[in-house]
Amino acid sequence: MTRLFVALAIPELQREALLRIMSGLPGARWEPEENLHLTLRFIGEVDGGLFADIAESLAEIMAPAFDLTVKGIGHFDDKKRVHALWAGMAPSAPLKHLRDKIESVVVRAGLEPERRKFTPHVTLAKLRDAENDRVAAFLSHHGLLALEPFRVSEFHLYSSRTGKDRAAYRIEASYPLFEPL
Ligand code: 2AM
Repeated sequence: MTRLFVALAIPELQREALLRIMSGLPGARWEPEENLHLTLRFIGEVDGGLFADIAESLAEIMAPAFDLTVKGIGHFDDKKRVHALWAGMAPSAPLKHLRDKIESVVVRAGLEPERRKFTPHVTLAKLRDAENDRVAAFLSHHGLLALEPFRVSEFHLYSSRTGKDRAAYRIEASYPLFEPL
């Protein structure tokens, strides 16, 4: 079985800009630079047959390339505490279009539809026992983050292996987007 997800890679310039803000919060487990990505569809554990079917189905997608801007910092919480910090995206219709196409081909390949709302984000840190005041200070300090836009000209099927300490992601297949005329 292989754990899979579909995601965009984050270019080096934007990764480095994100890394510059990823410090100064006790209790944060910052993601390593190579793990920064934007998930379009989490797939989960699949066997070899479904892996091949999904990889093939994704190749049918015809969608345009587009520019995307990392903008704002957000968080996921349960009622009591914040458990993840992430960088958000400026609203993007082509991103939503791409996500919808991916959703439709993976459902046709046999996956259950995704019921959760799509919140495009790049996870920066998982939090364990971070103080709420410190988290709030981090969010307000970096809330206006806006990076240089970058061109999204492909997306990837990634596998994820859980290591001793953190997950190791690997690109299994890449899919080009077309340049609109
Ligand atoms: P996250 O960034 O919000 O943690 C690889 O693990 C990617 O798949 C990550 O981007 C992660 O989201 C996402 N992911 C992991 N488990 C998931 C789940 N059960 N449902 C949805 N997305 C998940």
